[in-house]
Amino acid sequence: MMRIRKEEAKDREIIYSVVKAAFDRAEHSDGNEHDLVNSLRKSEAFIPELSFVAEIDGKLIGHILFTKASVGKDTVLALAPLAVLPAYQRKGIGMALMKEGHRIADKLGYAYSVVLGSEKYYPKAGYLPASFFGIKPPFAVPDENFMAYKIREDAPALDGIMIYAKEFGIDSLGGKR
Ligand SMILES: CC(C)(COP(=O)(O)OP(=O)(O)OC[C@H]1O[C@@H](n2cnc3c(N)ncnc32)[C@H](O)[C@@H]1OP(=O)(O)O)[C@@H](O)C(=O)NCCC(=O)NCCS
Repeated sequence: MMRIRKEEAKDREIIYSVVKAAFDRAEHSDGNEHDLVNSLRKSEAFIPELSFVAEIDGKLIGHILFTKASVGKDTVLALAPLAVLPAYQRKGIGMALMKEGHRIADKLGYAYSVVLGSEKYYPKAGYLPASFFGIKPPFAVPDENFMAYKIREDAPALDGIMIYAKEFGIDSLGGKR
């Protein structure tokens, strides 16, 4: 049976290895996603309620993290990373992790979740080009790969560049440090 629940302290080491294994074979990876999770967990951008794990029969096989980012004076969420162990991919686990994340994010009052990723994948979870909501990327990226999901129906459109937590190592002048 599959279950999604909030991350607990005891999960940390397993999350590290799940994220590493998932991105080992990923099309786009900087090879540091597992370390990024650890540094984000210590950062001000971390929201304990928005780090989730997926379990199948008690085995941790997936993880998703949403952290605080900003667009002008507004706070939005950055979805990153999302990881499912290779043997468990394409079974709907990534979708289930996003759905639960959006549900809790709504309860916590967040308006948008923003992701950099495949234009073939995230639109299945309702993501649209972020430009549609007035959210611009802090780096050069095709419009279709920088996407946002409107969590709250009444969320106003934004107008500005998305600033990620510094742990992402992105500067607003473009490119990675
Ligand atoms: C990307 C990832 C999180 C998707 O999780 P998943 O549990 O395998 O995805 P799901 O089963 O929820 O996918 C549901 C749908 O997306 C499709 N899909 C899954 N992975 C896809 C991909 N990489 N590209 C395009 N479509 C994809 C599935 O075919 C399925 O479509 P369908 O419902 O129309 O059949 C997972 O493959 C993964 O961990 N990849 C390696 C790490 C990575 O790249 N993370 C994302 C960084 S942006």
